[in-house]
Amino acid sequence: MSEIKSLFEPQSICVIGASDKKNKIGYKIMENIKSGGYLGKVYPINPNLEEILGYKVYKNISDINEIDEIDIAVIAVPEPLVLNALKTCPSKKIKYVLVITSGFSEIGKNKEEKDLVDFAHQHNIRILGPNIFGHFVNKSNINASFASSNIPKGNVALISQSGALGSALIGETGEENIGLSAIVPLGNKCDIDESDLIEYLQNDDSTKVILIYMEGVKNGEKLIPLLKETTMKKPVIIIKSGRSKKGAQAAASHTGSLSGSDEIFQSIMNQTGVHRPENVVQALQWAKFLANTPMPKGENTLIITNGGGVGVMAADACEKYGVQLYDNYRSLEEAFAPYVPEFGSVKNPIDVTGSVGIEGYEKCIEAAVKHPDIHAILCLGCEHALFQEEALKSTIEKVHNLYGHIKPIQYVFYGGKSVKSAARYLKSKGIPMYFDVYDAISCLGELFRTYRHQQIRHTFESDDSVGIEINYPAISDILRGVQNDHRQFLLANESRGLMEAAGISMPKSFVAKTVDEAIHYFKKIGTTVVMKIVSKDIVHKSDAGGVRLNIENEQELMNAWEVIMLNARKYSPQAVIRGIEICEQINLDTEAIIGGRRDSNYGPMLMFGSGGIYVEILKDVAFRSNTFSKAEIHNMLKETKLYPLLLGVRGMGPKDIDSIIDVILRVALILKHFKQISDIEINPLVIYEKNSGVKAVDARILIK
Ligand code: ACO
Repeated sequence: MSEIKSLFEPQSICVIGASDKKNKIGYKIMENIKSGGYLGKVYPINPNLEEILGYKVYKNISDINEIDEIDIAVIAVPEPLVLNALKTCPSKKIKYVLVITSGFSEIGKNKEEKDLVDFAHQHNIRILGPNIFGHFVNKSNINASFASSNIPKGNVALISQSGALGSALIGETGEENIGLSAIVPLGNKCDIDESDLIEYLQNDDSTKVILIYMEGVKNGEKLIPLLKETTMKKPVIIIKSGRSKKGAQAAASHTGSLSGSDEIFQSIMNQTGVHRPENVVQALQWAKFLANTPMPKGENTLIITNGGGVGVMAADACEKYGVQLYDNYRSLEEAFAPYVPEFGSVKNPIDVTGSVGIEGYEKCIEAAVKHPDIHAILCLGCEHALFQEEALKSTIEKVHNLYGHIKPIQYVFYGGKSVKSAARYLKSKGIPMYFDVYDAISCLGELFRTYRHQQIRHTFESDDSVGIEINYPAISDILRGVQNDHRQFLLANESRGLMEAAGISMPKSFVAKTVDEAIHYFKKIGTTVVMKIVSKDIVHKSDAGGVRLNIENEQELMNAWEVIMLNARKYSPQAVIRGIEICEQINLDTEAIIGGRRDSNYGPMLMFGSGGIYVEILKDVAFRSNTFSKAEIHNMLKETKLYPLLLGVRGMGPKDIDSIIDVILRVALILKHFKQISDIEINPLVIYEKNSGVKAVDARILIK
């Protein structure tokens, strides 16, 4: 298959369905190619025309004699003509085809779409679309689209699954003064998907931030490692619709793709370090800030304000968005006392008070930029008589030009007309100026998220499974037996055997046929046991009086044996009794659920959460794409509401987190080694105090 570079940096392009009629899409594309200043070769194709916008028109691709290979073909003819148009492409070894045309899988014409892909792949062609507006790449001066001819140029690359939203985002980015390095819509994603595009954009120097609008993920298994790799180089922001159940349905019918479970998607975003905004406005604010702000060298933030109220509000926002305030008070005093009146404050927030005009901020910002332990600066201001519009504009512009490239600096100014007008002016100059602290600090929080991710990512890639012993041959034997039996699930004793071979501790259990055997097993277990009747004819054991708890000595065991047998015979005289199960009694404690699942979209996934009988109601679970890193697994634990309980609350000591992680690592290894296993579920996993271990009370295992 062709190198994706040709899509972004084509040397030549042809437009099948080019038109000279100004109201036609085929004309608009030609007009944009021309006005965009594209310097490569351009070949319009139309059987009825001689010339369009000064370009010579060809009746067919094969008529272009001057060239043997063309990088891109844009197809803009009605749906019934698209396949035939595509069939002309191999004559000039076209590498990429942009199918503008609508009316394929999004309206149920799946076969027509598949025919395109099948033909394309037979001829080493990749398809973008169908159902797209074309693409724009700033560094290649190419605007092969019928979107705006006036796309703002800059360093944010936009990938959009929705054409309409992508087109609208071009306008929105213009309004927000966000320049774009590329815009690539995916449309129905019949072939090229976001992974193909990210592969190019991650190494593209003209792109500082990748902003993606996504409805459904089609190949999550390919996307996950790519996102991990890319976020180490530059921020990736994904707006994903389909968070709610209703949203997911709408997304599914919108472009014919399934959007999958949002919990899994969110966990993957956490694992890969992708930024996931709530909405388009937030996405654009983050994109603009992340694309134009230097990476901090640490996490200490300083707030400079002229009003206590906004300072406190900002401190609240810092807590909400995980921004850390610098708190070395001695050092703050030394650095800022010379610039702050006696009645101000040199704690963080630095309060310069209302007696200082905007010029008074300059010295504080300068001191903060020079301070080696302050890594980001937030300037807040409330309008008062000393605030003059012109001074506000010129001071901030000067200060930002001097220092804005050294450390992240943001500005939030509250006030009336003149403050707003100054703020708008500064925003238009690309200065990170906001109308509210929460907007500013949400951006700063994301910058620190990237910083943190890039600092510690390597610890999440370690393989901590080395040295973990698992009896793989024993597990293979068990699975072979299940497959020979044509079953898709493991019986209780098989699951127990698999857990044992994997080194996951389950309550000890044996079936005794005689009371002497029962005594032997009781001694072997060596602790309090539960006794349960074993008969396929007695399903409801408790109803039959077939269960006895808290058996602590031989005498109690012999008595219980008599009673259970008597009850069982009375309950069902014909029942075939195999014996009595002697089972280690588990003291209930904190209960968790651990899962391993082979997701059809994302591949092998791990799950951890609150367990027991209320799993479905609590829905307190977190996921990870299969990992062997203890740090990553620990992060998954932290995403659940159960986690604070594991740390110890209300006089209860901390729980054995290390043992939970050990069990999850073993599940991860089983998923990796045995591709035939589709699901492993341990519920409940009883978790004891620190250093006291865990017990898998029940395990359900399914195979494909
Ligand atoms: N080779 C070359 N040219 C051809 C061929 C051929 N085999 N067959 C026809 N043509 C010419 C036609 O003669 C015509 O040229 P003309 O204007 O000189 O007569 C031109 O190609 C276009 O063909 P038309 O039949 O006029 O088709 P029209 O332009 O009306 O529609 C289009 C084609 C735009 C692809 C339409 O079918 C379509 O799908 N529109 C929707 C596109 C869309 O919205 N995409 C998603 C965007 S995302 C978003 O929502 C913003």
